Amino acid sequence: MINNLNKIPEHIAIIMDGNGRWAEEQGKERIFGHQNGVNAVRNAMEAAGEAGIKFLTLYAFSTENWNRPKEEIDALMGLLVKAIHAETDNLMQNNVRLQTIGNITSLPEDCQKELQTAMDITKDNTGLTVILALSYSGRWEIVNAIKMMVQNNVTVDDITENSFKNYLNTKNIPDPDMLIRTGREQRISNFLLWQIAYSELFFPDILWPDFTKQDLVDLIAQYQTRQRRFGKTGKQIY
Ligand code: IPE
Ligand code: IPE
Ligand code: MG
Repeated sequence: MINNLNKIPEHIAIIMDGNGRWAEEQGKERIFGHQNGVNAVRNAMEAAGEAGIKFLTLYAFSTENWNRPKEEIDALMGLLVKAIHAETDNLMQNNVRLQTIGNITSLPEDCQKELQTAMDITKDNTGLTVILALSYSGRWEIVNAIKMMVQNNVTVDDITENSFKNYLNTKNIPDPDMLIRTGREQRISNFLLWQIAYSELFFPDILWPDFTKQDLVDLIAQYQTRQRRFGKTGKQIY
């Protein structure tokens, strides 16, 4: 349970890393880690919903992940279809709205269909919004935004930080307050490059399939102890 109800983040983004190593540590195939990663996704969604978080963005598949072996990609896409199909009732019960960011048209057709169905069914839910980043990368998103601006004949005078934001996949979504990366790496790996300009960063020493509801609660508590300054003068400490 969250004790301090004052500083609840509005948007949490998670780089869900460490599935392969989790499986390898147990002498199992990497895909076993991805299968178990689905439970951790459920944990994160439930904990975020209960904490009153409005947006949870989950990095599920990066543009660069297309460079993995075909069997692993196929298994990941299959898992995605299965998980979304199995979880839609759960999303409805918990008032969760599903959305996506990324190059969705590059996903296999059955994935696109399953995602579209789940998004349509959950579109009027008013609790937590879960945003799956699929075939997503920050650089792809920024280049894509520039292409759209050129196509729309946007003039130099019309380009501002605020107008640019509207060409990103995340338009209408506030920037993440927290960015969490599991999996013992401390890097961004091309996630939400524009949006995390002032996010608070967390690198818990947890492989993604081990991520629990309590882990999210603990990270939110850590967030609440941080002082965000956005470039302004901080509290005087002398
Ligand atoms: C994260 O786990 C899931 C995806 C990138 C799809 P990894 O598969 O990257 O696991 P590690 O980092 O190799 O342990
Ligand atoms: C980041 O993890 C992408 C996702 C979690 C979807 P990676 O495992 O692909 O990142 P790197 O290769 O370690 O930077
Ligand atoms: Mg990894």
